[in-house]
Amino acid sequence: MINPYLPYEAEVVERIQESSTIFTLRLKFTDDEQHQRYSFAPGQFNMVYLYGVGEVPISIVSDPGDEHCYDHTIRVVGRVTRGLAEVKQGQRVGIRGPFGRGWPLDKAEGRDVLIVTGGLGCAPVVSVINYIISRRDRFGRLTIMQGVKHADDLLWRERYKLWSQMPDTNVIVAADTGGKQWPWRVGPVIAMFDELELVPAATIAMMCGPEGMMHAAIKRLLELGMTDEMLFMSMERNMQCAVGHCGHCQYGGQFVCKDGPVFAYNEIKDIFGKKGF
Ligand SMILES: Cc1cc2nc3c(=O)[nH]c(=O)nc-3n(C[C@H](O)[C@H](O)[C@H](O)COP(=O)(O)OP(=O)(O)OC[C@H]3O[C@@H](n4cnc5c(N)ncnc54)[C@H](O)[C@@H]3O)c2cc1C
Ligand code: FES
Repeated sequence: MINPYLPYEAEVVERIQESSTIFTLRLKFTDDEQHQRYSFAPGQFNMVYLYGVGEVPISIVSDPGDEHCYDHTIRVVGRVTRGLAEVKQGQRVGIRGPFGRGWPLDKAEGRDVLIVTGGLGCAPVVSVINYIISRRDRFGRLTIMQGVKHADDLLWRERYKLWSQMPDTNVIVAADTGGKQWPWRVGPVIAMFDELELVPAATIAMMCGPEGMMHAAIKRLLELGMTDEMLFMSMERNMQCAVGHCGHCQYGGQFVCKDGPVFAYNEIKDIFGKKGF
């Protein structure tokens, strides 16, 4: 990143409608030099700028090895994301980034990796899943657990099927409410921790999604013998500058934009889940 305050123009190479409220923008910088220079780590995010409307933090979901384009999967929430949903192939947006601290891939190497996500929470981990799958021999067993409230909320069904066919990979998808055509499990995904062949001393966990879900997952994983410093989570807070200056994303003594969004549980356990933080 040359200037962290300056949005660089990127073209929408492809737009994919994932569900009625979720879409993916596949982007490429219009300046070739910027495109070559740009690189990111799984778990980092970009500030996506809709010209004349505003900027929002969005995780990067592609594999860092994919040099052709960078993907953002976005849920329509409010003003900016609603506007981004109208952007068509060939149109341009501004990109600042990448920002933040991503997943601890150095610590994960040689370990079993447990990924626990809820809702669209899986966006920040898609990149790390792709990363592990394309460098399979550097990691131990990969377990992907995804929980959704309703069967209709599940994105990327094909990806879960594909991941479940990969060697040494276990995929557990569960919906609180299933349905006739639902091929996966029914019930809270955390209740399925007991079925895992978890080796606590050899495992690293990466989580994202609703904080209540992560809180419950951490509690159970600690009971199962995992330690604080091997539990990682991606946090979300309102962001403006993304470089630790404006204070909008302050979380206790840290800034989610610069010190996170990925934190080890032992770094935030005194405030995690507490009202007011
Ligand atoms: C590091 C990081 C990564 C993110 N990655 C993604 C991603 O990959 N895909 C994606 O769709 N979204 C992601 N988000 C969330 C996204 O940034 C917000 O949904 C977006 O900023 C909303 O902006 P808006 O202008 O559309 O809505 P606003 O008009 O700003 O907000 C509309 C409503 O949504 C609430 N809201 C705003 N932001 C959030 C939030 N983060 N969580 C819960 N409620 C919120 C507001 O309080 C308000 O009630 C990420 C956020 C962070 C901090
Ligand atoms: S967004 Fe400004 S300090 Fe984090």
